[in-house]
Amino acid sequence: MKKIIITIDGWSSCGKSTLAKHLAKSLGYVYIDSGAMYRAITLYFLRNHIDWTDLEKTSEALKHVELHFIYNQKSLQSEMYLNDENVEYFIRDLVVAEKVSEVATIAAVRTYAVAQQQKMGEGKGIVMDGRDIGTTVFPEAELKIFMTADILIRVERRFKEMFIKNPNVTFDEVKHNLETRDYIDSNREVSPLRMATDAILLDNTLMTMEEQLDFALKLVANKL
Ligand code: DC
Repeated sequence: MKKIIITIDGWSSCGKSTLAKHLAKSLGYVYIDSGAMYRAITLYFLRNHIDWTDLEKTSEALKHVELHFIYNQKSLQSEMYLNDENVEYFIRDLVVAEKVSEVATIAAVRTYAVAQQQKMGEGKGIVMDGRDIGTTVFPEAELKIFMTADILIRVERRFKEMFIKNPNVTFDEVKHNLETRDYIDSNREVSPLRMATDAILLDNTLMTMEEQLDFALKLVANKL
């Protein structure tokens, strides 16, 4: 059966990764969370006190960053490894979330991440989610979905997730973080968040997961 590349871009906490995971599972494709890569790089910079506004220091630091995903049979998820350490737990923290968009504006960081993402797509049969996947990483992808949802719904979803890990987190903190990230992601110079001209819009504000999966599977069937 022909394999294709599916890109899912959109605003923060729209449910991109949830849909991407379900879609990949239904199709027997590999799911790649490109945001996890930017988060892992940010974690490395924070831990090692790297000044990412300094191009030379950033380029040097990136030479010491090795990223890969390993599929966890128990959680049934691909997990992010930074220099052979499973960092899945740490990269979802608000400390990383507060800095990741800033780090993701750095051209050297993007060049580094995009090259690896493109390599992962060489064999096709992947679903990758992020911000620039349909526009920059795979401009020739066969199917591009762009997701959006009402901001309050998005904050509520992310707040519930974060509250489990950290009961001190507030709704306003999460709202501020999402709005700030959306602003930085869509206003940066290098490959800002944009809906590709050939992408299909999916507003999931009032949709269940099953409805979203059904919608996406129909699009895939059309492409195949
Ligand atoms: O999808 P996420 O929330 O885990 O992404 C974290 C940040 O990484 C997001 O605020 C912007 C950046 N990002 C990016 O610039 N390009 C991507 N392809 C994916 C994520």
